[in-house]
Formats: sequence, structure tokens, C-alpha cells
Amino acid sequence: MSDTSILFQPTSLGSLELKNRLAVAPMTRVSATEDGCATQQMAEYYRRYAAGGFAFVIVEACYIDDQHAQGYHFQPGIINAAQAGAWKTVVDAVHAEGAKICMQLVHAGALVQGRNSGYVEGAIAPSAVEPKGEMLDFYRGEGGYPTPREITTDELIAVKDAFVSAAIHAQKTGFDAIEIHGANGYLLDQFWTAYTNQRTDQYGGSARNRIRLDEEILRAVIAGTQGTLPVGLRLSQSKVNDFEYQWVGGEQDAADIFPIIKDAGAAFVHITEHLATDEVFGSGHSLAALAKKYSSLPVIANGGLGDPATAVSVVAGGNADIVAQGKAALANQDWPNKVQSGKALEDFDFGMLGPIANLDNAEIFFANRG
Ligand SMILES: Cc1cc2nc3c(=O)[nH]c(=O)nc-3n(C[C@H](O)[C@H](O)[C@H](O)COP(=O)(O)O)c2cc1C
Repeated sequence: MSDTSILFQPTSLGSLELKNRLAVAPMTRVSATEDGCATQQMAEYYRRYAAGGFAFVIVEACYIDDQHAQGYHFQPGIINAAQAGAWKTVVDAVHAEGAKICMQLVHAGALVQGRNSGYVEGAIAPSAVEPKGEMLDFYRGEGGYPTPREITTDELIAVKDAFVSAAIHAQKTGFDAIEIHGANGYLLDQFWTAYTNQRTDQYGGSARNRIRLDEEILRAVIAGTQGTLPVGLRLSQSKVNDFEYQWVGGEQDAADIFPIIKDAGAAFVHITEHLATDEVFGSGHSLAALAKKYSSLPVIANGGLGDPATAVSVVAGGNADIVAQGKAALANQDWPNKVQSGKALEDFDFGMLGPIANLDNAEIFFANRG
């Protein structure tokens, strides 16, 4: 077994100290109550990651308003006292096992599959462009996505305010960090992505303009939480509804946007790729490495890093500071403890996420496997 000790060195995100360099990637489990509250089952699920040795647990994407932000039925939110109170149980469970916990905030934009009754019908997006791809069946979706309507100027302001309000709920609940979800095809990624953003105002066109909403939300959330906790941004190329998308400007996009993200006050950048080690744009670097090169911020790398030697290579090569595990963590909630003690890892199996990717079905899968 290769030397994995570098993964177990302490590190920090701004003022937040982490006992090692291993994070749980955010994973939507559609297991909240119908009105978006985290449950005791979720508290136990997240507690197991902390007990399993992960230093930093990033929770599943939570919606930020009761208008258009929710994308999935049984997705949790963080928009009111009831939802915040429910998350407190999760936060306390993770803290009791010695890990830090990060809230991920999302607006679904065009990618809406399910909402609680009482929420506003229809979807908003930078432009009225029909999304590519199909809804996710493991979140109860079926068929294509309807074409959204263009967000109004007032709604854009309201979305920014909602990110701030949700972040304050998270901060008061005891979360240690906040991640703004700018990846994977949701509203902020729709602004960043060239073909879903056909705007001609200051939010469309150049890379500088398409990243402006991320920048403004980062600034507003950092101001709203008064710098009391690190606030980071997650970015990707691929999307849940378009796996092949690549940034249109190549390395120049990275050179343009990462300094803006740093100047906005971000404490970290989280890059997710199919394979975080892949070279991008013929640059000789991975996207995580480009994020580091152009932002000089702490970088979390995610995507296909479940093999310990690969995870080590990302950190040892200086491409990222922290490695986030998604599917490998689903299969091994104690990935860090197993790796540190030289125990064998379980393989990920899509049966863990089926037919609906919720915690009930995962429990049935693991019970049957024994
Ligand atoms: C069931 C499931 C749910 C996911 N939900 C989210 C989410 O809520 N927010 C997010 O940013 N990414 C989400 N992702 C993407 C993961 O965070 C991660 O980027 C992806 O699984 C690739 O990393 P891996 O190779 O380590 O699994 C999800 C992935 C899975 C498998």
C-alpha cells in the first residue's frame, strides 16, 4: 500500500482548521421531509461520515428560497427557522464526531423536477433556453425539462438576497463553512455556461460578465455573514444534464475568472470533474490545478479520486489541498479510517442509489449485502 500520510495532514480553509485533507462531496439524497426539513435519518447518515474520519462534510445542495430555487422533491432547504432547526441536529451530530460541516446552497434555475406544493410553478434561468438532457429518474424525474423563462431584474436581486438569507440561517445553525453551488448545470452554472446564457446585459457575453452573478453572490454572502466563516464556490465543466460540456474559452476562462473569485473574497474553490486528474484544454494541467494557479486559493478537487494512490497524487502534486469523495464515500462512509489503517475499500455499486437515490433505499441495499 502506498504512503497516504499526506492526506492526513491538517490544513485550513481561511480561519477554519481541518484535521485532514479529506472531504465528503455534496450528494443530494432526497430524504428530507416534504417541507424540506432534514431528518434524524439524515443526521445519522452524516454522522457516519464524520465518525469515519472525514474532516470536512459538505452536505447536499439546499434550496435558498420558496419561489423557484428547489429542484427536487424531498430536497432539504435552509430558508426558515424550521429547516434551520432541523439542520441543527445534523450539525451537532457531525461536530460530536470531531468533523466540520459545510452547507451547500443552490438555486436550481432551469433544472426543476419536483417541488413542494405551495412553491411557485415554472422555472427561471438567464435565458429562455430549453435545457439539454433528461430529468434524473433516481430523483423521480421523467422526460425532458420544460423551457424556463428569462429571470427578471427584480428576481435576480431577490435570488442574491435569498442566498444571503439562507447563508445567515446556516451560519446561525452552526455550520462551519458555506459553499455556493456554481456547478453541475444549476442556475449559477447556467449563467456561466455560454449556450444557456444568451444575455446581452452585464451578466452575458464575456467570461467576465458570465461569472458576475457568482462574484456578486460571493460578495453578498461574505458581507451578510460578516466574514465569520469561510465561503467558497463550486465550479465544474460537465452538468447533470450535459456531461460533455467544456468551458468555451479554455485556459483563458480560468485565467479570467479565478482572480475575480479570489478578489470577491472566496475562501476556497471546489472543482469537480469526471476525473479530477485529467488534463484540460491542452494546458498540461487539471482544472483543479488551473484553479490553484490563477486563484492561489485553497482548492478542493473532486471526481474519480476514490483510489487512495490517485488521491495522494493530486495533493502531493500540488494540484489541490483537499480531496472530496463522492461515490467512494457512499460505498465507504469510513474511507479515511479504512485508508489510514490499510483496510480494503468496498467498490461503489449503482444499486446504492436505486431505484430512488434516497437513504431508505441505501439502507435496504446495505442490509441485503450484509
Ligand atoms: C447521488 C449523488 C448526488 C449528488 N448531489 C450533488 C449535490 O447535491 N451537489 C453537488 O454539487 N454535487 C452533487 N453530486 C456530485 C458529487 O458531489 C460529485 O461531484 C460526483 O459524484 C463526482 O465525484 P465522485 O467521482 O467522487 O463520485 C452528486 C452525486 C451523486 C452520486
